[in-house]
Parts: sequence; C-alpha cells; structure tokens
Amino acid sequence: MSLRKSAATVLSKVVKDGQSLTVALDGILESIENSRDRAFIQALCYGVVRHYHRLDFILRQLLSKPLRKKDTDITMLLLIGLYQLQYMRVKSHAAVSETVSAANKKSWAKSLINGVLRQYMREQQSFEQKADKDDVAGNSHPEWLINIIKNDWPEQTQCLLSENNKQPPMTLRVNLRQSNQQDYVDLLAKHSISAKTISFCASALVLDQPVAVEKLPGFNDGMVSVQDTAAQLAAELLDVQAGQSVLDLCAAPGGKTAAILERQTKSISMLAVDIDEDRLGRVRENMQRLKLKANIMAGDATKPGEWVQEQMFDRILVDAPCSALGVIRRHPDIKILRREADIEELQAIQQKILTLAWDLLMPEGVLLYATCSILKQENEQQIECFLNSHANAEEVVINAGWGVKRHFGRQILTGDQGMDGFYYAKLIKR
Ligand SMILES: C[S@@+](CC[C@H](N)C(=O)[O-])C[C@H]1O[C@@H](n2cnc3c(N)ncnc32)[C@H](O)[C@@H]1O
Repeated sequence: MSLRKSAATVLSKVVKDGQSLTVALDGILESIENSRDRAFIQALCYGVVRHYHRLDFILRQLLSKPLRKKDTDITMLLLIGLYQLQYMRVKSHAAVSETVSAANKKSWAKSLINGVLRQYMREQQSFEQKADKDDVAGNSHPEWLINIIKNDWPEQTQCLLSENNKQPPMTLRVNLRQSNQQDYVDLLAKHSISAKTISFCASALVLDQPVAVEKLPGFNDGMVSVQDTAAQLAAELLDVQAGQSVLDLCAAPGGKTAAILERQTKSISMLAVDIDEDRLGRVRENMQRLKLKANIMAGDATKPGEWVQEQMFDRILVDAPCSALGVIRRHPDIKILRREADIEELQAIQQKILTLAWDLLMPEGVLLYATCSILKQENEQQIECFLNSHANAEEVVINAGWGVKRHFGRQILTGDQGMDGFYYAKLIKR
C-alpha cells in the first residue's frame, strides 16, 4: 500500500470512525518496516489532523459538494495533498502525482484529486488568505472550542490557540534512581543528542530535536522515559515520605506512578488503579522496564468499594479523566473527537472521583488533584466546590516558579515555559 494511502486509512479511522489518532496509527505502523516510511506516515497524519479545520475549509471551497461518507478515504487523500502543498517540503508535482496514484482503486477519484490540487496550486494565496480571515479555519479549531477558551482565558486565547497548533518538544524524565539530569545530558551528548535541563523540575530534560526512543541511551534499561515536565511535577508536589502508602488513582499508562517511585530512595507502598485493563498493561510494561514495584489493579474510581476494603492512604493522586484540552498539541485529534457536551459529563465524573477518593485519605494525609485541562470548570471551580462541601479539607497553596496561582490551585497554560497545559491543587485532610 502506498504511504499516502496508509495515511488516508488512518485519517478515515479518526474522522469517520471516531478512533483516536494514536490507536489508528499504531494499527497501521506495526505493519510498516522502514522507519523513514513510518515517520512519513506519522508526519502526514499528525499534520493533517493538526490543521484539519483549515484544510477542510479550503477543500470545501474547491469541491462543488462534499464527497459521500463512503468516499472518506478520497476526502482524506485530498486533505493530505493540500497539507503537503502548503506545509511540507515535498516537490509539488511529486505531491500531486503520488497523491493521485494513491487513489488507485477508484479511478474516478484520480482526475478529481488532480484537478482539485492543481486548482489549489494556481490560487493558493487567495485560498490561504480566505482561511486566515475565518475564525475556525484561521485558528484550525472548532467553533465551540474557540468559544470555550475565549470564555475562560479571554486575554490568552490567541496564544493558547496558536500553542495548541505547534509541535510540542520532546521532554524526558530521568529515572532518579539510576541517574540525574546533568549526567544524563552528558550521556546524551556522547550520542550526539543535545538537551537542556529544566531548573524547576529535578528529573526533566528537553531535547533540542525529537528522536526515536530506541536512540535514547539506557531507554530499555529504564534510565529514562518520555513525559512532559508539567506531568513530572506531580511527583514533587505529592511529597511522599518513606514508609507511606500511596494511591495513584486513574494511573494508566503509569507515567506519574513511575515518576513518584523513581524519586523514592526508601520504600513506599504504591497502589496504582485504573478502569482500563488494556492501559494497565502499559503500566506493567513501564514498571518492568523502569525496575519499579507497584501493586497494579483494575478498578473503577467511582466504585471504590469494589477494589478497596479497609485500607486508607497517606497520599492520593487523583489524575482525573478530563477534556485533555491542555495536551492538544500532543493529541491534535482532540480538536476533531472531543464534543462540547463531554465537558459536563467529565466534570460530574471528576467530582464523584474526588469526593470518593477523599474518604480513602488518612487524617493529615495529602490529596493531589490533577488534570491536563485548562478549563476552569474542571479545575479551580471543581476544587472550590469541593472545599465548600468538605469542612475537613484545606488547601495547601502551591508556591512555585511555574504556572499561575489561581484562587484555588495552580494552572499551567499550554506553552508556559514550554510545558503542556496542566492544573494542580493540593488538599490536606484535617
Ligand atoms: C489522564 S489519564 C491518566 C494518566 C496517568 N496518571 C499517567 O500519568 O500516566 C486518565 C486515566 O483515567 C482512567 N479512568 C477514566 N475513568 C476512570 C474511572 N472511573 N476509574 C478509574 N480510572 C478511570 C483512564 O483509563 C485513564 O487512564
């Protein structure tokens, strides 16, 4: 199968079937041996998804009417063609001819693709100018999402929308049991990989250029993992002491479970719970690679009675399921798959999980509430509501050199010091 055809198959799964880009890509990439081919398909898919609303706006003007749902593969090829012409350093005649030949089984589509892409090339500037003037196309976000961001962050809206459309940096978490920031930067340099340390997070490094994980020295031996700095901050904030019991609720794929364990020189007990069996498999793999120990359990955080009996915990991390609007730059398919109605549903689940987790916390214990969202209703409003209804809960103010202090908790806006959008609130039980 041609590379563009493979990319169109992945994109159809996202746009037509509502599959996540990661899952759809994994399904195709495992059958492709050549790493350059894999990287090309990945670049096409991420690029088209990132700029989907803009490319789709332009395509609608180029077509007299949208193609039928059963021809989504051809629509995706057209978007791939437009993407290459505007954003990739591919020779335009090659982009057109390769995209046309990818439609091999639908001969009617070949002349359509050829005609559409050539018309775009002739009038590229005018199509792009029209897109710039349109709110949805110009920002490449759906209207509801632009509005919801405007509502919460009116002054930062433009910056947030543009950060969401950028390629994120590749950030690493050094396993502090095996190495430290500076030693690992030096080790990377020996492999001709350059990186910078992050001053406010002892385990974080940002690579100047992304590389395949297999190229990272010591990766297979658990020396390092890929994780954004914002996510790594959870381990420091939770401040686990020797001998304490920790519950990591909503733990899969185990990034924060590992970050917490890697900081401990003395033993602690760690219970990592998640509702998703498949994703728990990844927690197990990560623990094995990083040579860490945790009790890993499938469980629904809204029904703790099903997976925990009398046990109480000194520390609880609630990394709540959320809209993930802070990580759009890493998962641009959120702009296509997320619906406005999801937010209220998620808010209700978060409230339930937080309230039930509180009952599992020991007196004087600390609960850290985290989301990778920038929405106030999932973050500071959620915590305000919780504090108003729990007299034994007190906020521990997070004073830090990152993020913005909010009335409740601390918010990192996407792109702030290079980080993903995240929110943390720390609560102590009195
Ligand atoms: C933000 S992700 C967690 C990321 C993880 N803490 C890490 O750092 O790698 C949210 C997780 O919540 C889980 N989840 C969603 N609803 C849940 C529920 N009712 N009970 C337990 N886990 C749930 C999802 O399966 C997902 O793995």
